[in-house]
Amino acid sequence: MKNTPTTTIPDPADDDNVASLVGATKTFGEGDAAVTAIDDVTIGFRRGEFTAVMGPSGSGKSTLMYCQSGLDKLSSGKAYIGDVDVSTLGDQELSVMRRSQLGFIFQSFHLVPALTARENITLPVDLDRVAQVDESFLNELTEVLAIQNRLGNRPSELSGGQRQRVAVARAMIPRPDVIFADEPTGALDSRTSGELLKYLRQAVDALGQTIVMVTHDAVAASYCDRVVYVQDGQLVGEARHPSVDDVLDKIRELS
Ligand SMILES: Nc1ncnc2c1ncn2[C@@H]1O[C@H](COP(=O)(O)OP(=O)(O)OP(=O)(O)O)[C@@H](O)[C@H]1O
Ligand SMILES: [Mg+2]
Repeated sequence: MKNTPTTTIPDPADDDNVASLVGATKTFGEGDAAVTAIDDVTIGFRRGEFTAVMGPSGSGKSTLMYCQSGLDKLSSGKAYIGDVDVSTLGDQELSVMRRSQLGFIFQSFHLVPALTARENITLPVDLDRVAQVDESFLNELTEVLAIQNRLGNRPSELSGGQRQRVAVARAMIPRPDVIFADEPTGALDSRTSGELLKYLRQAVDALGQTIVMVTHDAVAASYCDRVVYVQDGQLVGEARHPSVDDVLDKIRELS
């Protein structure tokens, strides 16, 4: 297992490089109260790759993901989606980019209670007045996620795992270049969490989806093509096709 940080500088002009950070630093607060949440991070995320981001609590995982996706702004360095430097975008352009090119899955599912599962899934497309719902893709997606027979139900009528799968379908329906997931299994029990990971893995394998997933769970990381480790805001390790034991060893070393 390779356990050294990646030193390759991602090339934003490379078509397979769907997202990247170059020399990315984010500091919150000023003076004595300043916290450097991510510190000179350089990393690329490649098309069709499922990456786990791991590290102790407070190590900067969420900040890395928020800055990469344009939800938050870097203090210095660059965050690219494709070859676009997100810091050059205005609020309007950023929100169009987020809606059309990025998907988000959070620990709490953020579904709209009054809407059915289907309406929740198609919401990003319905909000974008130009695009139409691709019914055959919706079919494929809900079949892969095993929620086809729950589409008429509201979130309150679904199990936790089903709700999270609706949130996954909603993130995937605009065919985003990349999905960012912050502890998507954090609120699920281990069986439901295993199912969701199987579906995410299938989405990567069957649909070529790129996923970046923050997780504390070594089992979750073992579903990924690659795991990167963050400590004190810096990248401190990386491995491909990690086993649960490899991940547990590394986590013990970091904490
Ligand atoms: N809005 C903010 N204002 C001030 N400090 C912040 C802010 N957001 C994060 N931080 C600080 O930045 C550091 C990294 O936080 P971050 O949320 O990225 O960690 P994390 O690795 O996602 O942790 P966890 O596993 O607990 O979710 C922490 O020290 C945190 O207190
Ligand atoms: Mg976090």
